[in-house]
Amino acid sequence: MKVLIVGSGGREHAIAWKVAQSPKVDKIYCAPGNAGIEEYAECVDIKAMEFDRLAAFAKEHQVDLTVIGMDDPLVGGIVDVFEAEGLRVFGPRRNAAILEGSKAFSKDLMKKYSIPTAAYENFTDAQSALDYLETAKFPIVLKADGLALGKGVLICNTIAEARDGVREIMTDKKFGSAGNCMVIEEFMTGREVSVLTYVDGKTIKPMTSAQDHKRAGDGDTGLNTGGMGTFSPSPFYTDEVDAFCRKYIYQPTVDAMAAEGREFKGIIFFGLMLTADGPKVLEYNARFGDPEAQVVLPRMKTDIIDVFNACIDGTLDQVDLQFEDNAAVCVVLASEGYPVSYKKGFPIHGLETFRDMDGYYVFHAGTAKHDGEIVTNGGRVLGVTAKGSDLKEARKNAYEAIDWISFENKYYRNDIGKAIDEA
Ligand code: AMP
Ligand code: GLY
Repeated sequence: MKVLIVGSGGREHAIAWKVAQSPKVDKIYCAPGNAGIEEYAECVDIKAMEFDRLAAFAKEHQVDLTVIGMDDPLVGGIVDVFEAEGLRVFGPRRNAAILEGSKAFSKDLMKKYSIPTAAYENFTDAQSALDYLETAKFPIVLKADGLALGKGVLICNTIAEARDGVREIMTDKKFGSAGNCMVIEEFMTGREVSVLTYVDGKTIKPMTSAQDHKRAGDGDTGLNTGGMGTFSPSPFYTDEVDAFCRKYIYQPTVDAMAAEGREFKGIIFFGLMLTADGPKVLEYNARFGDPEAQVVLPRMKTDIIDVFNACIDGTLDQVDLQFEDNAAVCVVLASEGYPVSYKKGFPIHGLETFRDMDGYYVFHAGTAKHDGEIVTNGGRVLGVTAKGSDLKEARKNAYEAIDWISFENKYYRNDIGKAIDEA
């Protein structure tokens, strides 16, 4: 069969790699793809938001299944466009992708269906938000309602910071229309865990857990980024936590969406905080995590095409979803200066070392091909993943493997997975 993947980051590279493992697949396209994805797929020069062009391509090339990796096209309704053309597609429709597309929607859903999350209020005008701050407890969390490239969340320690934050989001529109509405919520403390799940509208099957490192610097210092590294599984995600989440968070979320007439099919990514009062939802995403996919998919045993098909057909209850009993760590190699300003265009050396190295992967995020040479082309350049029999071994392997790669201005965190020492 022929598969089209929509997206261009490290996550889509991991999806393409996993799809390529399926014996059912004989051709993969990726739009727009990147220099690494080219190893498995024919990259097509169509952008992720060009729904009509993508659908026309899928028809013309008799694509059997399209997989949407990114949030913007899902929230924008790409699945509805494909379905209207009679094309088979994996991902939530627009009315379900709102679970990620609007934080105000998702908070109201959780409140209505008693799904554990931080206490909050929604605001549609700056003055009411500012008034609310007068009696609030600090620190407090401000969130732009819409998609903001993972940057629309401000944690404010004082009322002065929070006032500035409200103005940035709602008055200055720093995150554009994402800030037409905002959520102000209680600050929670605890361990963060990412759990990605497959959903077919009724049944939900969690994948193995993972943890992201969002800050740019060692020891969780510096600015928030798209993610500097991940490990899987999280040793803090115990069987007890898993049982709680399945009963009070995962299935209730799927049932709530169905009850609202917004049947969810695709991936629900639960961003969880393991608080002293139990697990609570930080956020929902409607897609694989990046760089969570880079540690979760290499550990997945089941044929991903069977799982995608079961989600579309509503037969996920019949799938035996299996993961390897090992661990993986992904260290992101970024350009020095990311996420603020950085130079790009430097040649990357050593990529070939990963070929035929079992249990080692290099997923491209921001790379380009110039005159046949692969060069840096973004803030996050590569994700280097290594597996190991346990987290410590996986971490040791990942940090060995990043030395195989060299490029000017290479920057990475030294402490990805360090938290596992405390487990
Ligand atoms: P989100 O995009 O909602 O996941 O927020 C990005 C990051 O902000 C999360 O991964 C947390 O580290 C942090 N965060 C979000 N909401 C809260 C909260 N209520 N309490 C503490 N930290 C939060
Ligand atoms: N790693 C967080 C995300 O994909 O949103």
